[in-house]
Amino acid sequence: MIRLQKSEWAFFGLIFVYSFIPSFGGLIRVLELAGGPQIAPMNPRALLAPTPIILHILSSFLFCVVGALQFLPSIRHQRPAAHRVIGRVIAMAGCVAALSGLWMTHFYVFTEALQGASLYWVRIVLGTSMLALIIWAVIAIRSRNIYRHSASMVRAYAIGQGAATQTVIGITWIIATGSEAMGPLRDGLMIFAWVLNLLGAEILIRSMLRPAKRPQKKRSLIAVRPSTPREET
Ligand code: HEM
Repeated sequence: MIRLQKSEWAFFGLIFVYSFIPSFGGLIRVLELAGGPQIAPMNPRALLAPTPIILHILSSFLFCVVGALQFLPSIRHQRPAAHRVIGRVIAMAGCVAALSGLWMTHFYVFTEALQGASLYWVRIVLGTSMLALIIWAVIAIRSRNIYRHSASMVRAYAIGQGAATQTVIGITWIIATGSEAMGPLRDGLMIFAWVLNLLGAEILIRSMLRPAKRPQKKRSLIAVRPSTPREET
């Protein structure tokens, strides 16, 4: 039995609520595509090519919700084997989420109101970066570089959670202005959400993950010039 600290429950609860609309809302789309009722706003692209969006929704759900478990120190310390098993599943899910996101960005036919050139290119760059960061994180942990592994995973996770920040910003915009953002404004808000997440990731990496610097100079001096009884006389 794993014992989580109060702060870890709070962190997991926060991620759960934060990911709720894109992750759980996405499952409603999957049910619709499987023949269920249409509850989410209509998406003609999903009806024309359902496979990539179904893969995308299921894999990003795993990556965002189950992936949050990987950041809990108690699981890492008390059950390192569980961290490794979940990590493998999450790494694969993250790669499928990024690849299917890239596929839809390029092959789905969007109107200018839904995806302009700027959003297209940012999605291509960030989808590719998310994939590269996950692969880099796996390579890093195989060579036992914990800092590089966790920093890469935090950055990939920040890109993935862009969907949640985009939802929060989109809803806030509707509440503030009474209308949904469209066209270049929508693209700008979506890109802004990713910028915020990546800034948050960098702050977290610098403040919590970066290993403390050790007084290297003194150590190496001692190692190179050991004092012997002869030198002391
Ligand atoms: C890993 C976290 C992510 C989550 C939780 C997520 C969530 C979702 C959801 C729920 C949908 C379905 C929207 C609908 O039903 O109409 C969707 C669609 C889409 N996502 Fe993601 N996504 C994630 C990452 C990404 C990334 C990194 C990219 C960029 C490469 C991306 C690009 C897209 C595109 C292009 C669509 C199709 C949008 C449409 O047809 O209107 N997603 N995403």
